[in-house]
Amino acid sequence: MAQHAADAPFRSTGTRMPPMISGGLPLLGHAIEFGRDAFGLLHRARREHGDVAGFRLAHKKMFLLTGPEASEAFFRAPDEQLSAKEAYKMMTPVFGKDVVYDAPTPKKLGEQMAMLMPALRDKRMRTYGEIVAKEVDLSIDELGDAGVTDFVGYCAKLTNYTSAHCLLGPEFRGRLTVEFSELYHDLEQGIHPIGYLNPYLPIPAFKKRDKARVRLEELIGGIVRERRKSGREGEDFLQTLMEAKYEDGQGLSDHEITGMLLAAMFAGHHTSSMTTAWTMFELLQHPYYLARVLRQLEDVYGDSDDISYVSLRELTLLEYAIKEALRLHPPLFMLLRTVMEDFEYDGYVMPKGSNLVVSPAVSHRIASVFEDPDAFDPDRFAPDREEDKNRFNYISFGGGRHKCLGNAFAILQIKVIFAKLLRRYELWLAGDRIETDFAGVVVGPKGPVRVNYRRRRNHP
Ligand code: HEM
Repeated sequence: MAQHAADAPFRSTGTRMPPMISGGLPLLGHAIEFGRDAFGLLHRARREHGDVAGFRLAHKKMFLLTGPEASEAFFRAPDEQLSAKEAYKMMTPVFGKDVVYDAPTPKKLGEQMAMLMPALRDKRMRTYGEIVAKEVDLSIDELGDAGVTDFVGYCAKLTNYTSAHCLLGPEFRGRLTVEFSELYHDLEQGIHPIGYLNPYLPIPAFKKRDKARVRLEELIGGIVRERRKSGREGEDFLQTLMEAKYEDGQGLSDHEITGMLLAAMFAGHHTSSMTTAWTMFELLQHPYYLARVLRQLEDVYGDSDDISYVSLRELTLLEYAIKEALRLHPPLFMLLRTVMEDFEYDGYVMPKGSNLVVSPAVSHRIASVFEDPDAFDPDRFAPDREEDKNRFNYISFGGGRHKCLGNAFAILQIKVIFAKLLRRYELWLAGDRIETDFAGVVVGPKGPVRVNYRRRRNHP
């Protein structure tokens, strides 16, 4: 499963504009190569020029920054200089106008993000843990005692239920009908790399996306109105947003609530689903480490099937495995910003109007940062090694002001899934090829990848 080691022996210096990578066509630049193999192109950029390298997507100038120092400069820049809002304009038709990255000002965007915080902090975490555990139990009922399942599909379905239940609430989970799944699918299909160039092209995928967005707003708006009328208070994300206020005291409109819920679903669903699948595939290919994870599960839970929030913290080996799967296979493999004011780094100037890319996928494969970077080695995160000690070495969850707000929730959710599945079943790969599917904006393993399972005799 090893991909390109991204180490480059030299550091760029000198000229004002960063060097451009080789190749590229007169008008299209590197767009065709990017469309065919974005991941390969980014690795090539680092190999050719080190920490700062340029390429062109049609008329758009792009600069790739890799390595901890360059990543830090990117993450620490203010929104007024490097704008996430501009860079992620392709998400506006999905989340809606004036919401999240389309918020009218950076201040408003900051306030909206701050409203998500209470829903992703300790107080609600305990509830989420219980919900996820229940959902895994339901999925186990469906799996039965033995069989074979496409684990990529299994993770997508399970995390769809867990995210919908934790974020949108039990009403929604109860009605997670075929209609919702189809609408959500249409919305997802509307997030395509071509949207970086223009998210409003009249292509079928974007038309379906727009129709789905309208209907989802109707559905979510209906639930908000019902809950307001009934006076019932949920312990979910939706409740947090219903109670949230801007600094001027104004609450969120139904349109804004829908947008922020969809943003949270999008930010959290695929990313968690793919990380669960990769963690499983890596563990099943590294039985020695898996055996240690199992022993720790035994030590923490013994005969009990009760997975409490507190005990999850003791599952350090599982946590290292998840982090390592995320290091090797970050679902968001490129993070973007648009340059609003000239950005200087390492003697180079990246001009206003260009775009910057930070790539966890490339930066995580630098041999001077991570020892033997293509190897699955979760112990690199243990206290005696701490290869992520410099916080910009490890950037699966981003960094700085836009760092992921859902990382604790994601890790909690994945831990619960593994604590349940690994103790219930013996699992082994059925032999399918495991490769990365780079078709979407969030990348993960290409399904189907079948996993065999058989109930453990000694399971509680
Ligand atoms: C394994 C799972 C996840 C991964 C790998 C992940 C990764 C990331 C990354 C890399 C960013 C930074 C994007 C950038 O700087 O351009 C980000 C931002 C964000 N994530 Fe996550 N995420 C995950 C799960 C979640 C979950 C479960 C939620 C919420 C339920 C969530 C909510 C957010 C939000 C709201 C932001 C935007 C923060 C901002 O712009 O201020 N994420 N995530």
